[in-house]
Amino acid sequence: MFETLTPPETDQILRIMALYAADERPQKVDLGVGVYRTADGRTPVMAAVKQAEERIWQSQETKSYLGLAGDPGFHAVMRDLILGDTVPASRVAALATPGGTGAVRQILELTRNLTPDATVWISDPSWPNHSSIAGYLGLNLRLYRYYDPETGGLDRDGMMADLAEAKPGDVVLLHGCCHNPSGVELSLQDWRDVGALLQRTGAIPFVDIAYQGFGEGLEEDAAGTRILAGMLPEVLIAASCSKNFGLYRDRVGVAFAITADDETQAKAQATLAFLNRQNYSFPPDHGARVVETILTDPGLTEIWRTELREMREGMSATRQSIADALRAETSSDRFGFLASNRGMFSLIGATPEQVEALRDEHAIYVVGDGRMNIAGLTPDSIPYVARAVAQVMG
Ligand code: LMR
Repeated sequence: MFETLTPPETDQILRIMALYAADERPQKVDLGVGVYRTADGRTPVMAAVKQAEERIWQSQETKSYLGLAGDPGFHAVMRDLILGDTVPASRVAALATPGGTGAVRQILELTRNLTPDATVWISDPSWPNHSSIAGYLGLNLRLYRYYDPETGGLDRDGMMADLAEAKPGDVVLLHGCCHNPSGVELSLQDWRDVGALLQRTGAIPFVDIAYQGFGEGLEEDAAGTRILAGMLPEVLIAASCSKNFGLYRDRVGVAFAITADDETQAKAQATLAFLNRQNYSFPPDHGARVVETILTDPGLTEIWRTELREMREGMSATRQSIADALRAETSSDRFGFLASNRGMFSLIGATPEQVEALRDEHAIYVVGDGRMNIAGLTPDSIPYVARAVAQVMG
């Protein structure tokens, strides 16, 4: 029977990962999948994580099951990290999930169960798995304008015009910060304007926040999410600890449904827990416990915040260095936006042929849409990459 299977195409990020792994050229540079690297190209376990793991190892006496929604202590620290005191805990249904992707999946499944004919509005462009999961679940999809390749900035008017067409019950997916793949952010005023538009249309915001702390700072990166949470009765949130805690393979994520009142929260909480039961039963605990251990201990929190700040500042410095190197190579400010974008990614504006030429001729791996993982650059690779990009992109 299995011979009738047609394997689905893997998305372009995973394709690049596999091609990079198979490349034997020593000069190869991985600027594909979104993984943070130090100046010497490593992705180390964060010191705060190591210390938390040691404490857990010393003190944990059972690995017996917890609740279906995960540990309430983990929910609480993530709620504080993302929402601060914007909404009372009694209005927030929470679910621990395997990674941010698990949270995206559970929230879109909740959406489908609530409103099967809802349209999910996704930015053009977006992380490819957003539309993949929504489409897989049979939800309608609409792209809204977001990135303007002409200016390298936000197509604000296009975005507002498109989102004005959303209907009550539709879900508008927004990147909480560090837009993936463009690195183009909404200003605080943009967030307020989007909030007002959502109030008018009755569509529900769904914020995917996977890079909190990688843009301007922990509080700054959560500001947009908090604006929406303060303005609207219902908000959906998916968050990941893959990047800001470096817990990639431990799969740590959380889904929140902010509800209009406490009574509705109880319904949403029970429904989300049921979704966990149907998909994988109890969520993974180890990474979530690491996060909870860090965020409930002031000393560990301080170590973690310092490490995260160093990563963020390192990425800003890398952005400036690659922009400078490209200015020198191209004698133009054409790539100046690389310095002002935020987060791990930028779109360098390469055509598919140019992406291929970077790979084939220079062993430089960026994603097919021209997305470059800035955090994959090192002081050693920057001059090489700048020369190759200038050569290939003319
Ligand atoms: C990325 O965008 O590269 C990361 O979020 C990794 C992934 O799962 O695609």
